[in-house]
Amino acid sequence: CGIVGYVGSRSSVDVLVNGLRRLEYRGYDSAGVAVVDDEGSVRSRKRAGRLQVLATDLAEDSLPEGRTGIGHTRWATHGGPTDGNAHPHLGDDGKLALIHNGIIENFAALKAELVSQGFVFQSETDTEVAAVLLGREFQRTRELRAAMLATVAHLHGAFTLLAVHADQPGLVVGARRNSPLVIGLGEHENFLGSDVAAFVEYTRNALAIGQDQMVAITADTVEVFDFDGTPVEATPFEVAWDASAAEKGGWDSFMAKEISEEPEAVANTIRGRVQDGTVTIPEIEGIDLAAIDRVLVIACGTAAYAGTLGKYAMEMWGGLPVEVELAHEFRYRHPFLSPSTLVVSISQSGETMDTLMAVRYAHERGATTLSICNTQGATIARESDGVLYTHAGPEVAVASTKAFVAQITALYLLGLAIAQARRTMPPEQIGEQLDELAAVPEKLTEVLESADEVRTLAQSMTDTRSVLFLGRHVGYPIALEGALKLKELAYIHAEGFAAGELKHGPIALIEPGQRVFVIVPSPRYAEELHAKVVSNIQEIRARGAHVIAIAEAGDVAVLPYADDVIRIPLASPLMEPLLAVVPLQLFALELAAAKGLDVDQPRNLAKSVTVE
Ligand code: G6P
Repeated sequence: CGIVGYVGSRSSVDVLVNGLRRLEYRGYDSAGVAVVDDEGSVRSRKRAGRLQVLATDLAEDSLPEGRTGIGHTRWATHGGPTDGNAHPHLGDDGKLALIHNGIIENFAALKAELVSQGFVFQSETDTEVAAVLLGREFQRTRELRAAMLATVAHLHGAFTLLAVHADQPGLVVGARRNSPLVIGLGEHENFLGSDVAAFVEYTRNALAIGQDQMVAITADTVEVFDFDGTPVEATPFEVAWDASAAEKGGWDSFMAKEISEEPEAVANTIRGRVQDGTVTIPEIEGIDLAAIDRVLVIACGTAAYAGTLGKYAMEMWGGLPVEVELAHEFRYRHPFLSPSTLVVSISQSGETMDTLMAVRYAHERGATTLSICNTQGATIARESDGVLYTHAGPEVAVASTKAFVAQITALYLLGLAIAQARRTMPPEQIGEQLDELAAVPEKLTEVLESADEVRTLAQSMTDTRSVLFLGRHVGYPIALEGALKLKELAYIHAEGFAAGELKHGPIALIEPGQRVFVIVPSPRYAEELHAKVVSNIQEIRARGAHVIAIAEAGDVAVLPYADDVIRIPLASPLMEPLLAVVPLQLFALELAAAKGLDVDQPRNLAKSVTVE
């Protein structure tokens, strides 16, 4: 869910709706706002559906002007996406409004207790429990800060809560445990947001709030304190990008724009980290890479596929064992961890709850934690021993694209830094790999320039019900990512397989006309692998598959066996996936667009899933 709060002299409805627009990628099944008007009463409006439904409603029938307000865009957990379950939730006297991101795990017990005390509930959400509790505590304390402190003491689970009260206009109070919240500092106005996108249009000065902390903002003051009420110092930072970076520009979708930014995402992630053929990453100097004897990579979704590529690179270059695991599986199997185990988490948002919990678990068990993250000041970054930022710029489309290539780049830099520290590679070889990496942005530009073929192919496949993706070695995670993209965006059943595994079962799926993408390794760099993959193509071709090969420019060996060939520039094996993924991203985007689907906000998904 996305959360925004405002106090200042602007019309808060406008600020809230603008902020929600930029946070909509966090959830988009319903939205709502509440303002404290100049007469000192709380007015709220909420609607199921996209933010636009609420925005249109507010344009037709505006809320009274108010200088204080909160807004919410929802990704449903408890209770379906209806008007009633949308946030804000009002206390039972209608004088307060509260919004929530997260899950209150003990809500059922609390609700039963409150119902037995005669409180009446309007929704099926866990959130309303917090609103009712806050109302009860306000009756007692007559002060919103104190009421919020008393309320959070009852709650278990994950939450960011923001609240306003009619009796205290000009004040927004927030509390956070395990869910994100940042403060934006303006001139005679202040902001709260799930991330800086909520307020970057108005200010780039921000403060990060820690775990189990609360904040109270007025137009001229910001107070941060912990759950005991003790004041704490929040960490200031400046947002490194401006509002235009998170705008669509002339593109049809954020995703199309973000794919076009991939060359820069890679170049910016390398920039400043390579000097005279060596890797220098000052941010992670606190971690002694020479003392590491094992790496465990944890992530979810697309980030986990980047992690698999990182594994291949780190094992090959750094000469140490590397495992990759989905963050939500990791801690339940009691993994062996020690201070010489480097746990590398990868997260674009830095807020994915599954990944955050895995990082905490690793930290508590004494491992060294390093995060690869694209969002400054994010929780995962703050809670890790070191952070290596990907400089992809804000990614708004729900399906990750430019962050993926930036994550792979960061993992390769880390792999080479480990090789340097452990002396597992001669310096000139490190230099060669860095040169290869530095050449990727230009090659990406080439791939993007030849996108028309993929577009035509996608448009011809709108009726396709199932697509398979095959790859070997570094092509395998790319096959998985290609399938994920197609599922996410075009709602087509898609599966990625290791090419060699097909004959052990999945080949039974092949029937005449089945479309199969195959990522073909370079015949020049990986002759043996190339020959194996060409054999795999023949096996499926013999059973009627329609093969779409993604192959290096000049690879003529695939021509007799492929129905369609998409060309990518020549690159060494580990660099190839950075190029091969692009046609697959474009294919999913174009196919979804041709089907008339919303590519930036696919159904049922959210960009940053802050619940477990
Ligand atoms: C969500 C998104 C995916 C993303 C995953 C991990 O499920 O829909 O696109 O890959 O989270 O996100 P993170 O921010 O941790 O990289």
